[in-house]
Amino acid sequence: MNILVLGGGGREHALVWKLKQSPRVEKIWCAPGNGGIAADAECVAIDAGDVEAVVALAEKIQPDLTVVGPELPLVNGLTDAFRQRNWAVVGPSQQAAQLEGSKVFSKEFLQRHRIPTAKMYGAFDSPEEIYEALNSVKFPVVIKADGLCAGKGVFLAPDFSAAKDFVERVMEKNEFGPGGNRILLEETLEGEELSFIILTDGKRYAPLVPTRDHKRVFDGNQGPNTGGMGAYSTDELLPERLRETVRSVIVEPTLQGLASDGIPYQGFLYIGLMLAKSGPRVLEFNCRLGDPEAQAILARIDFDLAEVLSDVAAGHLDSSKLRWKTGASACVVLTSGGYPGEFETGKKIDGLTAAERITSVMVLHAGTKLAGDAVVTSGGRVLGVTASAASLKAALISAYEAAARIHFDRMHYRKDIGAQATGLRAAGD
Ligand code: AMP
Ligand code: GLY
Repeated sequence: MNILVLGGGGREHALVWKLKQSPRVEKIWCAPGNGGIAADAECVAIDAGDVEAVVALAEKIQPDLTVVGPELPLVNGLTDAFRQRNWAVVGPSQQAAQLEGSKVFSKEFLQRHRIPTAKMYGAFDSPEEIYEALNSVKFPVVIKADGLCAGKGVFLAPDFSAAKDFVERVMEKNEFGPGGNRILLEETLEGEELSFIILTDGKRYAPLVPTRDHKRVFDGNQGPNTGGMGAYSTDELLPERLRETVRSVIVEPTLQGLASDGIPYQGFLYIGLMLAKSGPRVLEFNCRLGDPEAQAILARIDFDLAEVLSDVAAGHLDSSKLRWKTGASACVVLTSGGYPGEFETGKKIDGLTAAERITSVMVLHAGTKLAGDAVVTSGGRVLGVTASAASLKAALISAYEAAARIHFDRMHYRKDIGAQATGLRAAGD
């Protein structure tokens, strides 16, 4: 098989890494890829969100299967263009991708199908309406921009003045672009978060191992939200009883709701959950694998990913093929200093080979590129140091040992990934 992977982050490096291990895979292309993916796949410098350019590339290279990593190609209708041509692709349709592309759409979907979620106070198109509505909500209140905002469109406002500042940035200064033209207000839920991702062919589904992301930039969940600073996976994250509840109260009603709304869904469906005291509730849907959740999930794979994804594209997923390593995995994200705000790029990265000498460690690249013989930084999230082991503690020790061998100017990472579950803090902290 020849496979095309779309995207260029850590999630896509994880996909390429695992697909390459399949004996049935001959060649992998990645568009646009990154400095690490370049060692495992042929990178093509086109924008994954540019549907016309990707169709033209696929016409030329004729992959047997295309796997879409990020949301933008999905929201732009890439899989629809592929399916019209009868090309095998993994990822939901443009219409289904609205579950991620519009928070108002997804909230209305959740309400229509009585799937537990945070109560919505309303959706608004002007700042004046929001300021009015803010007079009758309970603080802290959650403010969400409707459209895609690269993970920055959600704010937990402690009071009216902080809420007003955020609404001004989103709606009046248009800091996040058109994604901020509509805003919804919802109640704040308390509890632990969990990323529950399933793979579905439209009829059947298979759950992937559960993961927990760490969204805030600093230790102790301080500072602004990011795309994700690290993730881990253990089976204990989702004990059997809770897993059954999530399946019967959330996953199955979601798939039935999509079917009854006439929205076919094939690919990965990411269900962001809040494990509230009153039961699990949906915080968000994403129409793809999470990043860095994918790195932690794929590190536990014990099956042929290329085979299973081909099955999904062909509409016959066999969930018994998905086997997982017992134990745990962890991914620690190394970022450019300043991220998620402004940061510099072009910094030389040292220590990559030394880091990968540690058993069961894989350094997955995100914002990196090649500059001659060197690997340099090219984005906010730079590397995802990923490890698997018999226990979460052991996986974290390996990942942090490897991270300590890597260096670039102004490198930053959280020292407390998984610490809540293990009580472990990184060596040297
Ligand atoms: P979302 O993109 O909707 O998942 O929001 C990003 C992050 O904001 C989530 O991972 C949560 O940490 C937080 N969040 C979103 N909605 C709520 C809510 N209703 N209550 C508390 N936190 C929330
Ligand atoms: N790590 C969260 C996400 O991928 O949306």
